[in-house]
Amino acid sequence: MKAAVYRQRGVAHDVLTIEDLPDPTPGQGEVRVRVHASGVNPTDWKSRSGDAPMTVEYQIPNQDGAGVIDAVGDGVDESRIGERVWLFHAAWNRVNGTAAEYTVVPSDQAVRLPDSITFNQAAGLAIPYITAYGCLYLDGPIAGKSILIAGGAGAVGHAAIELAKFDGAQVITTVSSPEKAELARAAGADVIVNYREADAIDQIKAAALGGVDRVIEVALGANIELDLSVLRPAGSIITYAAEPTGDPQLPVRRLMTDNVTLHFILVYNFTQTQIDDAVAGVSKALAAGALTPLPEIHFTLDQIAEAHEAVEAGITGKVIVDIA
Ligand SMILES: NC(=O)c1ccc[n+]([C@@H]2O[C@H](COP(=O)([O-])OP(=O)(O)OC[C@H]3O[C@@H](n4cnc5c(N)ncnc54)[C@H](OP(=O)(O)O)[C@@H]3O)[C@@H](O)[C@H]2O)c1
Repeated sequence: MKAAVYRQRGVAHDVLTIEDLPDPTPGQGEVRVRVHASGVNPTDWKSRSGDAPMTVEYQIPNQDGAGVIDAVGDGVDESRIGERVWLFHAAWNRVNGTAAEYTVVPSDQAVRLPDSITFNQAAGLAIPYITAYGCLYLDGPIAGKSILIAGGAGAVGHAAIELAKFDGAQVITTVSSPEKAELARAAGADVIVNYREADAIDQIKAAALGGVDRVIEVALGANIELDLSVLRPAGSIITYAAEPTGDPQLPVRRLMTDNVTLHFILVYNFTQTQIDDAVAGVSKALAAGALTPLPEIHFTLDQIAEAHEAVEAGITGKVIVDIA
């Protein structure tokens, strides 16, 4: 098969190459998937970059993707062959990421895809939507809750808006431009605030009398003042990203006084129950037609380095590598 590969970490153009590799064989409990679309997330370039030594001979990048099951290993029902699926965690502690013509994953990491959903949309589901689901439900049900989602035009932010609206929450989101506001509006946000405007805090307070119940946060240090200004007493902030500028200094006394709960989450370390709940929740919203793709930016497999660079540069929209 044709695959994108890196054999050492580093700058995208220096380390990513295209190679012919043997087609992978599904082992016990695994399925092989003919990949149609590979989604790129920040985690993919972060795993590839830096200078930490590799612990494997090579790595095929990209966690997310979508395609068709074409072979199954022992213990997997052969009726799955031919099934359209979306994939999660394909490259987590595994060499066979989705930037290749074939990948193999444990059977439960290949999730049935409704016929109405394109492979391109499906390749944008896993990391953003599973993360968003985990953040939203970390403190219990969200129906009727008021939730502030920072960065509503980002991949995780977009997913969080759609999942929260699907389950009946009030969604307030922040963006930094009119173009991003349009994306957040299309995702269904009730209130959209440009966080660069001087009265951003007042706009959020006016929309959530009594304060928001939860904040889903992408930039805790940059937004802690805003978050604490709009959070209700004993509310919670769920942070899913480390900031490139470094770790924030926290106003501990204020957090104590307001009885704020701070959570931090990493999708790779979700419990099996969190994963199962997220996959079921995302599948339900998908089947109901409640999830829409961000604008897609397409690259060929030969352009894998450019695809990684686009995400690394913070491009708005979903970067997809077309495989078949
Ligand atoms: N913990 C986990 O399991 C997990 C899972 C997925 C992603 N992540 C991490 O989460 C981050 C975002 O991922 P993504 O895929 O959603 O990236 P993305 O699509 O590039 O979105 C990032 C968003 O953050 C927004 N943003 C940046 N600074 C902000 C601020 N001060 N206030 C409000 N919004 C702000 C950006 O909007 P503006 O440019 O308009 O500010 C952008 O829309 C990455 O660092 C990624 O590695 C972590």
